[in-house]
Amino acid sequence: MSKPKVLVTRAWPREVEEEMRRRYDVTLNATDTPMTVSELQDALRNYDAVCPTVCDRIGAEVLGAQPMRAKVLGNFGVGFNHIDLEAARKAGLTVTNTPEVLTDCTADIAMTLMLMAARRAGEGERHVRTRAWTGWRPTHMIATKVTGKTLGLIGMGRIARAMAHKAHHGFDMKIAYFDPFPPAPESIRDLDATQCGSIEEVLRQADVVSLHCPGGKENYHLINAERLKMMKRDAILINTARGDVVEEKALVDALRNGTIKAAGLDVFEAEPKVTEDLLTMENVVLLPHLGSATRETRVAMGMRVLENLDLFFAGKPVRDKVV
Ligand code: DGY
Repeated sequence: MSKPKVLVTRAWPREVEEEMRRRYDVTLNATDTPMTVSELQDALRNYDAVCPTVCDRIGAEVLGAQPMRAKVLGNFGVGFNHIDLEAARKAGLTVTNTPEVLTDCTADIAMTLMLMAARRAGEGERHVRTRAWTGWRPTHMIATKVTGKTLGLIGMGRIARAMAHKAHHGFDMKIAYFDPFPPAPESIRDLDATQCGSIEEVLRQADVVSLHCPGGKENYHLINAERLKMMKRDAILINTARGDVVEEKALVDALRNGTIKAAGLDVFEAEPKVTEDLLTMENVVLLPHLGSATRETRVAMGMRVLENLDLFFAGKPVRDKVV
């Protein structure tokens, strides 16, 4: 029997691509060039499975491709706000994602940003590299202590819980959170966490606010000028979720006017474009969407896509069904 035809939109870790080749009639993207709308449409017309990732826009136009041969979209990534799920459903596609395997590494990046922003690590590194450093002195680059402070989490899914665990047990931080779909009590029992009744309640009490909610329409500009004003003046905002959750312009103003103290961002509104003002500000740490970027995690993500494809083509229920 011939193997299903699979198209992978971007370059994947070598070991996953090799495994892909063994199991499927696969077309890989050796040059790692982003695909255009019409190339993605062609892929849906000519392959049984298409495996996009978080930087591919799979909107209604792409999903309107006719006649559609594809039956499954095996997304490399946990987030799926780049896929028009309603259009995918209408097109009869199954959509899968890659949860769990990137939880720890993404939480580690949130911790990295928190520590860097609080301790002015990016600024300090630039200071050394530009040879501006004149030596130790009691008043030099005074920053904010993290240990013992309150971490406020907006969204309390797996990544938020992993961050809370590291912050509470490693840095003695108090945990406050808001999630419209709160986690099972046993999953947060060791965190001594305070459940808040609203986002605003978290914002008012947290020293560090970390965002862990999905992107897309429902949370578009959730953190805007008004909500930034509710944060403490010496608070820090961390975003490893999706760029459009924060109104970047309002954040620039808040950082500039001292409405909040600092921010750490791994995701941006118009990724990979970054609001020009942020690039010149010392009180914001900027990373290029590195949350899941470890060898171990990226391989695990690819293998998870493969697991979903294998189940799908074996006629079994997929493990990570989004649609
Ligand atoms: C995801 O998986 O959604 C991340 O943003 C990239 O790993």
